[in-house]
Amino acid sequence: MAKVNENDTLNNKVVYSQTVNTVDLEEENKILAEAVEKLEQERKAISTNLARVEQESSILRELFNNTNNELNNLKKPSLLVADVISVHGDKATIKLPNGNKFYCYIAQHIKDIRSGDAALVDQKSLNIVEKFEANDNFEVEKYVIVGKPKEDWSSIGGLKEVVREIKEVIELPLTKPKLFESVGIKPPKGVLLYGPPGTGKTLLAKAVASSTNATFIEVVGSELVQKFIGEGAKLVKDIFALARRKAPSIIFIDEIDALASKRMETGTSGEREVSRTFMQLLAEIDGFKPLDNVKIIGATNRADILDTAIIRPGRLDRLIEVGLPTEEGRLEILKVHTTNMNLRKVVLKEVAAKTENFSGAELQAVCTEAGYCAIRENREYVTHNDYLQAIERVRIDEEEDDAAGLIG
Ligand SMILES: Nc1ncnc2c1ncn2[C@@H]1O[C@H](COP(=O)(O)OP(=O)(O)OP(=O)(O)O)[C@@H](O)[C@H]1O
Ligand SMILES: [Mg+2]
Repeated sequence: MAKVNENDTLNNKVVYSQTVNTVDLEEENKILAEAVEKLEQERKAISTNLARVEQESSILRELFNNTNNELNNLKKPSLLVADVISVHGDKATIKLPNGNKFYCYIAQHIKDIRSGDAALVDQKSLNIVEKFEANDNFEVEKYVIVGKPKEDWSSIGGLKEVVREIKEVIELPLTKPKLFESVGIKPPKGVLLYGPPGTGKTLLAKAVASSTNATFIEVVGSELVQKFIGEGAKLVKDIFALARRKAPSIIFIDEIDALASKRMETGTSGEREVSRTFMQLLAEIDGFKPLDNVKIIGATNRADILDTAIIRPGRLDRLIEVGLPTEEGRLEILKVHTTNMNLRKVVLKEVAAKTENFSGAELQAVCTEAGYCAIRENREYVTHNDYLQAIERVRIDEEEDDAAGLIG
């Protein structure tokens, strides 16, 4: 019995210890599984991190490369832009912007360079490294006003003789070039409009562009020499190239006296710049044919200070005076500016009689001012009395301006 018992106990122990072992193992398994799970989670987190770091590193590498490239580019010496004067096999004569000419080599890979092209040249050796394919015309369009004006002949009052002459000199050659060929005469390349401010010079130029459906390219002389120091001559060249490309076109050079005034000497660099720009303008005018479908209209308030080179035969040799309107002219101008106004019992004839020495621009100001008189009184129509008040107001404004001008 005791034996059996002993055995039993023994057996029990085995069973017990086996049970304990199984429990332990399960526990351990659980712990291990948890650990594995944890490790797996960590692995996932690490691999996400790794992916992110790799991505970041690739971004940084790209940034580094870009910066490095830029740095390398910045370290390169800049190239000069020069004009190619003539090509002789693998050599060429070039002209730098300062006017100096050089005889230099052309890099072998450049095949199709010709005189008149622009080239990039090495600063030291001055050899041509590349052809310069600048989209000049695109650039020039940023600096000048190019458009198709809407003003037509009917928006001009008076100036009958002037309009007739402009039609003959500008409009006819553009619209009927054959006629000139048949008759065998060359029309002028352009005209010069001169006269006091506000008399309609710009208006006339726009009207003729509109009636001929020509591209209107507006340049202001003073801007050409002030804004584009060192670039004036090039800009003139580009403007003419643009005009030829967009032909028929009209180049309107306002304040042409800023470019083409008589100068005593050309001492300062500013004066030399103006004279270079002016020389380029003359060269461009001489360079195109009268029937090239490009016309030039110059305008100035100061015909007296113009360099005669600009008005020599073959250049802007038609001088047209655009003076202050006569009484009849003033009436016509008033009619133009009142077409859309709501007038009641306004005697324009009397307004014209009372506005001696008023320019077209001043007459327009009178109409606007008269309109304001009505608006101030909350009226929807303009009376004769409004006009009389307006005339006085504009006259006083002008006198004040004149006085300020004299003092300044
Ligand atoms: N003959 C005219 N007929 C109708 N409107 C005119 C006339 N003259 C001038 N004007 C009016 O005056 C405005 C200014 O005229 P415009 O700019 O043509 O003068 P301008 O002669 O070019 O002056 P500036 O010499 O100052 O450049 C025009 O927009 C127009 O409204
Ligand atoms: Mg003008």
